[in-house]
Amino acid sequence: MSDGSRLILALDLVDVGRALRMAQDISPHCFAIKVNWPIILHAGPQIIREISRFSRVICDLKLADIPNTNRLIVERVRELGAWGVIAHSFVGQDSLRAVVEAAGDMKVFSVVAMSHPGASDLLNRFHDMLIDISMKAGVYGFVAPGNNEAVLRQIRARAGGMKIISPGIGAQGGDEVSAVAAGADYVIVGRKIYQASDPVKVAMEIDQRLSMML
Ligand code: XMP
Repeated sequence: MSDGSRLILALDLVDVGRALRMAQDISPHCFAIKVNWPIILHAGPQIIREISRFSRVICDLKLADIPNTNRLIVERVRELGAWGVIAHSFVGQDSLRAVVEAAGDMKVFSVVAMSHPGASDLLNRFHDMLIDISMKAGVYGFVAPGNNEAVLRQIRARAGGMKIISPGIGAQGGDEVSAVAAGADYVIVGRKIYQASDPVKVAMEIDQRLSMML
């Protein structure tokens, strides 16, 4: 794990052995490793504990439930040693506040806009309201699309100094340097790294490009 890195690896591999090896090889070159449902469902929740031994882990569960259920899930994620968790904000302030309260020292990032084309159907029209809901709930930072510079710049302007982590890089068309220039603090990168013939090399290149911006 590299404190100065702006790269977050999205570990969406379903081959658990390969995922763990890749996590270990790339962790010196990234700030955190994000785990999502694919790896958690294949490896089991203990994968959170396992990777937490050598890296910050962000659990991308995109929580979107009632406060009590959100709380029960987040308490377990916390027990497993995660550094951060991702929740939706559209469910409202009470549900998100339940996440923040159960998270304790864990960092809560709320989704305020997304990177896929369908996000423009509904979600991405409401990022101002979603930021306001999130701030009132007390989140640590936001997830905002790194492949949509116009939206990302608007979110940065409203978010002030709060942290923004941005997916949508590589496979979804975004560029890591452009995303950071538009306001991301960290970029989340999955397929561009783990589908490469030399994933460690690609991760190191992204990390170096971003470190040159500091
Ligand atoms: P790729 O392979 O596209 O993986 O680099 C991206 C990772 O990030 C997740 N993802 C998102 N998560 N808001 C989120 O909270 C988004 O807009 C978003 N877009 C992608 C995706 O599930 C994968 O793990």
